[in-house]
Amino acid sequence: MNLHGIGEKIIFLSQCSSTNDLARESAEMGEAHGTIFRCGYQTAGRGKEGKVWFSSPGKGLYFSVIIRPQEKNLLLSWLPYIAAISVCEAIKEPFELNPAIKWPNDVYINGKKVCGILIETSSDDKKVDYAIVGIGINVNQEEKDFPEGIREKAISIKMAVGSDINIEDFFEKVLKRLNYWYKVLVHKELYRIHLTLNSFSLISPNSNIEIFDGQRVFKGEFLGFDLHGALLLKNREGVQKIYSGEMISFKL
Ligand code: BTN
Repeated sequence: MNLHGIGEKIIFLSQCSSTNDLARESAEMGEAHGTIFRCGYQTAGRGKEGKVWFSSPGKGLYFSVIIRPQEKNLLLSWLPYIAAISVCEAIKEPFELNPAIKWPNDVYINGKKVCGILIETSSDDKKVDYAIVGIGINVNQEEKDFPEGIREKAISIKMAVGSDINIEDFFEKVLKRLNYWYKVLVHKELYRIHLTLNSFSLISPNSNIEIFDGQRVFKGEFLGFDLHGALLLKNREGVQKIYSGEMISFKL
C-alpha cells in the first residue's frame, strides 16, 4: 500500500449528492488509500452535527479523501488537525492571508469561516478500517453567493484577496500540503503537528472558551493542546482534556 499517495487517483464529477457519500460507498467496495472524489456542486453536502453544507456551483472546492490508516489512535486524534493545517498553509503562502484554525478543524479568515472539514470513520474494536476526510472550501464566492444566515459568518478566499482565484492551482497546493502532513503523521513526528497547530490557533492561550462535546458544555481557560491532540481546558474541576466537540463561545 502506498501510504502517502493522497490524490494519485482523482474522480471528478460536475455534480453529486455529497463527496463524502461517494467516497464512503467506494471505500466500502475496497477503493484504495488516497483516492479523492471531487464535485463541482453538491446537492446534499453535509456538515458537522447533521448540518447542511451549502455549495455554490463551480465556486467552491468540495472533495473527500479516502484514508486507510495503519494505526487507530494516532490517526483519530491528529487527522482533523493535519487537514486544517494543510488548508491554512495553502491559503497563507500564496495569498498572504492569515488563516486560523477554530478548534477542532474549521478554518477562518478575518473572523469568518472559509473552510469546513467533516471526518467520518469506519472501524471495528481494534482498528479503523478507513476514514473519509471531506473538505469544503469557499474559493471564488462573492458575498451575494451565500444564502442569508450564512452570509454574515462566511468568507471566500476571493473576498479576502479581492480577485479571482485559480481553483485548480489552489487544489493542487492543498493536496501537496495534505501529502506532506500525512507523511509527518505516519512518521509520528507529532511535535511538528503540535507546534504548527498552536501557531495557527484562532484562540490564544488563557482565553475563556466554551465547548460542547455533544453531551455537556465545558467552560474554562484554553491552555493549548497536548501531545495526544487533546485540547486542554482549565477550570474549577482541574485541567480537562477534550478530544472532540464544538467551540460554541470564544473571544478573539
Ligand atoms: C462543517 O464545517 O460542518 C464541515 C463541512 C464539510 C463540508 C465538506 S464539502 C466536501 C465533503 N462532502 C460533504 O458532504 N461534506 C464535506
